[in-house]
Amino acid sequence: MTATGQLADSLRILRGDPRVGAVSVPPANGASPPAVVVIPDEGWLRGQVADAATLARRALRGWETTYDLAYRKPDAAPRPDFVSWTSSFTREPISQADMEDWLAATVRRLRALGHRRVLEIGCGTGLIVEAIAPFSEAYRAADLSGVAIRQLRAWLGTRDDLAHVETVHAPAHEVGAAWSADLVILNSVVQYFPDAAYLRQVLDNAWGALRPGGHIFIGDVRLLSTLPSFITAVALARSAEACDVAALRRSIHAAWLAQSELVIDPGFFHGFAMEHHARVSTRLKSGRSASEMTRYRYDVVIGKTEEDDIEIEMDKPIEIETLAGLRAWLAAPGPVPVVVRGIANKRIRSDVIAQHLVGEAAADTIVATLRGRIEAADGIGDDVADPADLEAMAAARNLHCAILAPPGAIDGRYDAWFGRSAYRAGAAMGGGPATDASQPLLLQVLRRLGADLLDGLSRALPAPALPSSILPVARAARLDGPLYEVFNFSL
Ligand SMILES: C[S@@+](CC[C@H](N)C(=O)[O-])C[C@H]1O[C@@H](n2cnc3c(N)ncnc32)[C@H](O)[C@@H]1O
Repeated sequence: MTATGQLADSLRILRGDPRVGAVSVPPANGASPPAVVVIPDEGWLRGQVADAATLARRALRGWETTYDLAYRKPDAAPRPDFVSWTSSFTREPISQADMEDWLAATVRRLRALGHRRVLEIGCGTGLIVEAIAPFSEAYRAADLSGVAIRQLRAWLGTRDDLAHVETVHAPAHEVGAAWSADLVILNSVVQYFPDAAYLRQVLDNAWGALRPGGHIFIGDVRLLSTLPSFITAVALARSAEACDVAALRRSIHAAWLAQSELVIDPGFFHGFAMEHHARVSTRLKSGRSASEMTRYRYDVVIGKTEEDDIEIEMDKPIEIETLAGLRAWLAAPGPVPVVVRGIANKRIRSDVIAQHLVGEAAADTIVATLRGRIEAADGIGDDVADPADLEAMAAARNLHCAILAPPGAIDGRYDAWFGRSAYRAGAAMGGGPATDASQPLLLQVLRRLGADLLDGLSRALPAPALPSSILPVARAARLDGPLYEVFNFSL
């Protein structure tokens, strides 16, 4: 029997559901029952997403519970640690060495900004407090998780030198007003915000609290343009050699749907800075470690200019067209600063190739074959470089190097800037549209719909007549193509 025949009763019930606009069965191989792709009825979906306040409250409650559980450790003496950082690839904790590398690089960037009065939003159990508070006069640390704040308070009680740290149990949108700071820190937090509008509200409050000459540091932001390759790489890493591309695409789609974190293009922050005539830099995480923390994330610094600073112009860098040109320039550096744009990132190169090959491959190609093709394609190209190699080359010539994540870059391509003094952010050149961020609330609605529809079918039909899964997509250009292509972020 064909897949569609086997699922005839399921398809009939789904098509009659008022929440469903269209239904399709993507090609499948192997013994497992096929999946069903569902496009929700547009009016129904719009109605659901319109109630953003309820969805956002639900999302905030979800993260509060997640972190309360993650931080609970009744037997250990409280102190800041890396307890909640887990690899998406292995589901094991990210190694202590990688996390220490990550923390040291973050703290270096924070210390370079200078600070006397610090507001930290989403402080967790105090990793950043420990590194930054000793060098500040006033420090307010806030977090959504009550368990985090209790642990932080208990640890602070053991540190007389940190008596000036004030702790607040509150969500990000409720802190910032009626305080003034010269450094506002949001490190590894904004990915847990419900949507871009919430982030915008928090940044507006932070901007209001910021003194002239001060900075907002937004650390560890997940890069939107590399989300497809990241998800592909994770799904591929977890797939058996004999698994076929049809099944791989289903796991990629399920992983898309499971994305409850906010993932943002740098253009979002450039847009915010442009509105406020602020300086802005969006820089890839530095460091040699191969973990996802350095491969798919970036830091943002937004600076409020002093009144007498407004006329200062940033040096316009000289453009170098190719990496070969850069190597020649580095052999005998001429006038600075210089910039090379659109460099393919060697750290994520094979993931980007995987993403494209999964889209193109025939559905019955097996993962072992796919891995061979990825390996063969990797290493081809003369526009590829590891950011850490460029940083090392610059350091060897006493130059500074900034690895910039520009707005809207395809496949995580980056710009490398070289100068004799440290990189100084300029005023924003251009922002991006409001859709420059993922939509966790939309995915929340789609996930619920998928689960509800499958639940309804399993009550009405025997197991052999059920699909293996229901995969809702917000909108599809075509329903008969590879499932991988039909996922769409925007409504
Ligand atoms: C990955 S931890 C980072 C902790 C700390 N910033 C650091 O770098 O070590 C994320 C923290 O953000 C907090 N958080 C998540 N959503 C939040 C929100 N809407 N408002 C305030 N804190 C939030 C979580 O409770 C958690 O403690």
